[in-house]
Amino acid sequence: MSALEVVVRLVYLAAAVCFVLGLHLMRSPATARRGNLLSASGMAAAIVGTVALLATGGTAAEGGDIHVSGWGWGTLIAGLLVGSLAGLVSARRVQMTAMPQLVSLFNAVGGGAAAVVGVVDFSRALGDGSITAGFSVPVVLDVIIGSITFSGSLIAAGKLQGWVSGAPITFAGSRALSILSAVVALGGGAWLVAAPNTWLLVAVIVAALAFGILMVLPIGGADMPVVISLLNAFTGLAVAMAGFVVGNQIMIIAGALVGASGTILTKLMADAMNRSVVAIMVGGFGTGDSASAAVAGPGGAEVRRVDADDVAIQLAYATKVVIVPGYGLAAAQAQRECGDLGALLTERGITVLYAIHPVAGRMPGHMNVLLAEADVPYTQLLEMDEVNPEFATCDVALVVGANDVTNPAARRAGNPISGMPILDVDKAPSVIVIKRSLGHGYAGLDNELYGEPQTGMLFADAKKGLREILSAVKTLVG
Ligand code: TAP
Repeated sequence: MSALEVVVRLVYLAAAVCFVLGLHLMRSPATARRGNLLSASGMAAAIVGTVALLATGGTAAEGGDIHVSGWGWGTLIAGLLVGSLAGLVSARRVQMTAMPQLVSLFNAVGGGAAAVVGVVDFSRALGDGSITAGFSVPVVLDVIIGSITFSGSLIAAGKLQGWVSGAPITFAGSRALSILSAVVALGGGAWLVAAPNTWLLVAVIVAALAFGILMVLPIGGADMPVVISLLNAFTGLAVAMAGFVVGNQIMIIAGALVGASGTILTKLMADAMNRSVVAIMVGGFGTGDSASAAVAGPGGAEVRRVDADDVAIQLAYATKVVIVPGYGLAAAQAQRECGDLGALLTERGITVLYAIHPVAGRMPGHMNVLLAEADVPYTQLLEMDEVNPEFATCDVALVVGANDVTNPAARRAGNPISGMPILDVDKAPSVIVIKRSLGHGYAGLDNELYGEPQTGMLFADAKKGLREILSAVKTLVG
């Protein structure tokens, strides 16, 4: 092994440490930015190490005889530039509410790239007759998983962006076709290992692409974040398999980490919604839109309306306020107004806490990211278990565009959110809810909280409602 190869292996090791530490730092909003930078530095070091190896002829395992032509270097550099620029521009320009579809597009690119690596290496080995079963197994897995991820992620991104209907899409025979494409992809893959041939490879790719599309089409738009997280785990697996194919350890490590973290995140999201991953993948739940507005409260009861002045009086003279943000805050882009109100109350010596439910909004960490954008101090953000005891001792719980995550119906059996852990907002002595109507949330259920005697409804867009409250509090306190 050459001295350069030893150095590159050490760089790979350091990159792997950066990935693991980076993931660890991402556990808290306060350190997440540092974690992201550390992981990105690890990836940059791994790229530099790989380019250095290529420039000097590859690893000993590859016989040290890789020769990259001028055309090859041109393609590599163009790919690096175009990819880096596209990633940078899209990540800087994307609206927070469009982040899930961007992540989905990145998954598509990752899965597709891994599949292409498999196809190229398979064709090369087929051409020079060096193909073995030990080589074919990871290639076939790489191509199948990568192709499913590519097409599935594009459909998921299309659903979230509104290019494809967010409603579950099925047609006569769609389930059978989906099963058939899975059987062809897996059966063809096994056959490919036994009898390598180009046309069979093409058939496997087409079947895997079809399965990716048919797997995601029947799933409702609002379930897409869970699906995207699952496809993210698939991307990791495909990249790890591609690492086996090209004998690159850092690809195996990075792929395994993405695969494991994506799987854990998928499970956490499904648990927080009290649904199984299988139930989500079977589809047919949630369209991502608020259902049509109800005219009366739960069970037909009248609800109590309040206006911004009533809310301002309660807030200005409180000692502890718990703010509960939800999807409506994101939809209204009202994070600044929410942060400003919290800051004004804090200035007046009022204890302000933000209650963060793990699946509030439409993607993991949605509320944390929005509130960080509004410079809300991390110390005021409390996770569900931490904040739940605070409701009984606060003066006011201010719910901004949250619905399902506050619905006491979750404590009863027999409805779509039964068993979902919720924020104990109904334990607060006074509850103010800002939303536009009595319209449902993602689960399509009446919220029993709205009919409680201590609840006042401020019917308004979250941004407008918060602005009115903010100016009423300012007028009150001078
Ligand atoms: P939801 O239950 O979806 O309710 C959001 C509420 O926001 C709606 O009832 C809507 O009522 C209101 N709203 C919409 N636009 C608004 C605006 N401009 N101003 C004010 N209010 C507005 O939200 P949640 O409580 O955050 O719960 C999240 C739900 O999504 C859960 O059921 C969860 O399981 C599901 N989910 C979450 C995730 C992740 S990872 N976060 C992933 C998939 C599914 P109006 O129409 O009356 O205004």
